[in-house]
Amino acid sequence: MGIFYEEGKRIFYLTTKQTLYQMVVEEKGYLLHTYYGERADGEDFSYLITRYDRGFSGNPNSAEGDRTFSLDALPQEFPSLGAADYRTTGLELTNGDGSFAFEGIYEGHKIYSGAYKPEGMPGLKPEKDEDVQSLEITLKDVASGVKLILCYTVFEEKDVIMRAARLQNDSHETITVTKLSSVSLDFLESGYDLIHFDGRHAMEREMHREPLGFGARQFGSVRGTSSHQSNPFFILCQRGADEDRGDCYGFSLIYSGNFQFTAEKDQYDQTRVTMGIHPYQFSWQLRSGESFATPAVALAFSSEGLTGLSHLYHDLYRRNLSSSPFLKKRRPVLINSWEAAYFDLDHDSLVKMAKEALPMGVNLFVLDDGWFGRRDNDDKALGDWEVNTKKLPKGLSGLAEEINALGMEFGLWVEPEMVSEDSELYRAHPDWCLSVPGRKGARGRFQMVLDLSRKEVQDFILDVMDRLLADANITYIKWDMNRSLTDVYSRARGKEEQGTVFHRYVCGLYRILEELTGKWPQVLFEGCSGGGGRFDAGMLAYHPQIWCSDNTDAINRLKIQYGTSFGYPISAMGAHVSVCPNHQTGRVVPLKTRGITAMSGTFGYELDPTKLTEEEKKECGELTRKFDCYYDLIFYGDYYRLTNPYEEGEGFMAWEFADKEKKEALVSIVITDKEPNDAQRYLRLKGLKRDAKYRVEGLDLIVSGQALLKAGIPVPRELHEYDSVQFHLTEQ
Ligand code: DGJ
Repeated sequence: MGIFYEEGKRIFYLTTKQTLYQMVVEEKGYLLHTYYGERADGEDFSYLITRYDRGFSGNPNSAEGDRTFSLDALPQEFPSLGAADYRTTGLELTNGDGSFAFEGIYEGHKIYSGAYKPEGMPGLKPEKDEDVQSLEITLKDVASGVKLILCYTVFEEKDVIMRAARLQNDSHETITVTKLSSVSLDFLESGYDLIHFDGRHAMEREMHREPLGFGARQFGSVRGTSSHQSNPFFILCQRGADEDRGDCYGFSLIYSGNFQFTAEKDQYDQTRVTMGIHPYQFSWQLRSGESFATPAVALAFSSEGLTGLSHLYHDLYRRNLSSSPFLKKRRPVLINSWEAAYFDLDHDSLVKMAKEALPMGVNLFVLDDGWFGRRDNDDKALGDWEVNTKKLPKGLSGLAEEINALGMEFGLWVEPEMVSEDSELYRAHPDWCLSVPGRKGARGRFQMVLDLSRKEVQDFILDVMDRLLADANITYIKWDMNRSLTDVYSRARGKEEQGTVFHRYVCGLYRILEELTGKWPQVLFEGCSGGGGRFDAGMLAYHPQIWCSDNTDAINRLKIQYGTSFGYPISAMGAHVSVCPNHQTGRVVPLKTRGITAMSGTFGYELDPTKLTEEEKKECGELTRKFDCYYDLIFYGDYYRLTNPYEEGEGFMAWEFADKEKKEALVSIVITDKEPNDAQRYLRLKGLKRDAKYRVEGLDLIVSGQALLKAGIPVPRELHEYDSVQFHLTEQ
């Protein structure tokens, strides 16, 4: 297992518990990709590579007249521009002499224990006592001396390979990098389906699946964040693959800024995938001796269908991405003031809300937007992080004290990356925001984006946060970000550096979050960007949970959370019970269903408890108790999607949590569409032991695992549209 280099054949074997990844250095020094898939110990897959003389697919000079050797057809480990491969490239640059070529020839490699660390960015880390190995392969452009270093860390137990790349300018001249992907992966065949998760504000990560046809399919974000519109997680799978069967490859970029994902089926029916920072407005000059490092990609393979792949990512991101103690520590059940009060808040009404939320089982009160400066609306005051003493005469500390005295913790909303034009901060430092001299910049929610590529701006934000956290007993921060980037120009940099600003912004953000979360480990950080506009593995490295969407409608949330679950664990999904009619859709859904849906996430409330009836509050208390009792199953168990909301017909959505030992499970069902006299539906369960007997609480039955797996349970027909039910199963 781990990494092995077979000297004689010049083959690299990267082996995990279930998978093998293989590359070979062929005679002329090109690094070819031979295999990635189910584990096959000791096999040399280079025999799969066939060569033909193919018209208009040229041959490198080093092929010396061999017309069958063409980089346009061969499976390459990392394709580059100007090397007679006309497919998607992973590397594009301009050399000192203005030429565009890079032809990477194997120079050497090193294998070491421990994980590769992408410079200035988050990456995967081994758990305590987990052994991981890394490999760095150097490919050198013989003409210029520029080196490309391909980096791999093998997480054997997790069945994951982390990949990244670094470009080292060992030429004598300045070069300009215009594209450097984190990963490129060639497949010898086609016939794959591509699954991507796209959406819009308040309707994020809708799952789309399509057969990958000829040409290149490109996805990504150029908004400066990973975005609501696209998500840096993709799946390539065998055409017939479903939740339980079939080969599935996952590509998860650990990065929160612009990204590009390309999947291409080429003229010879082969497939290539590349993923990394988007080349849009990207250009990075490297002087002689300098280097540039990409973010990392977590690459995973499962032959056990989409569920198998999701489980790999769930376990990985619950254990190997973040240092936050909250990955293991119990998370609070919170109530957030946003949908309860919006900007209309004051000390007494907040304390009253907190008091009323106590019997609902809430143990953290979160004060959302509206508490600072002249923030009575969303058109002002971002940047003026001083408490508004008209609204909160006792300050944050006074409010926190009173909330704490109730036995509740206190949390706060901030949006530190932004500045309102109407703010003291903007008047003092207009040059601190991204803006182009001589042009009036675009507005988004009336606000401008601070130039996080500047160290003094990063330091300012760190100071603000330190001050706030020191001033009051705050144990939770909701870190929001409410617009896409435009006018991406830094006043602090020359014109040749403007193509670096998008990426420097993200690295600036990572520096802030790294220092802040390191200094305040007792604080739980929840990410947010107008809901789920920055729901990615990069942010998860610092924020163990991310507000999944500004859409709190339980029925819409079923789809949003369904899509999110393919690449991210349930413990990462911020989900709250809100009031009805729902503020975003006007829909009315029973409280129980809102609760069950929020239980497929971190669970909390986003409503004004003073406006609930006693009965509703009691029901909330029961929901919280249920969540508390199923907490371990939800946060640490295996999650199964039992239905697909994009398939016609059944009228309900169902999902299940099962503990790793398969002794206990929780099945949730929500009726999404009801017709009279409809068919009796059955729900086949998963993640159970065939030969065990389970008590199905709710149905008052004891049934064998094999019956539950093969035949399932009847979906109760008496349920009305939007009604829901949970069944708790325990092994007897
Ligand atoms: C957008 C967030 O997603 C909401 O939950 C809320 O915090 C608002 N911002 C506040 O402005």
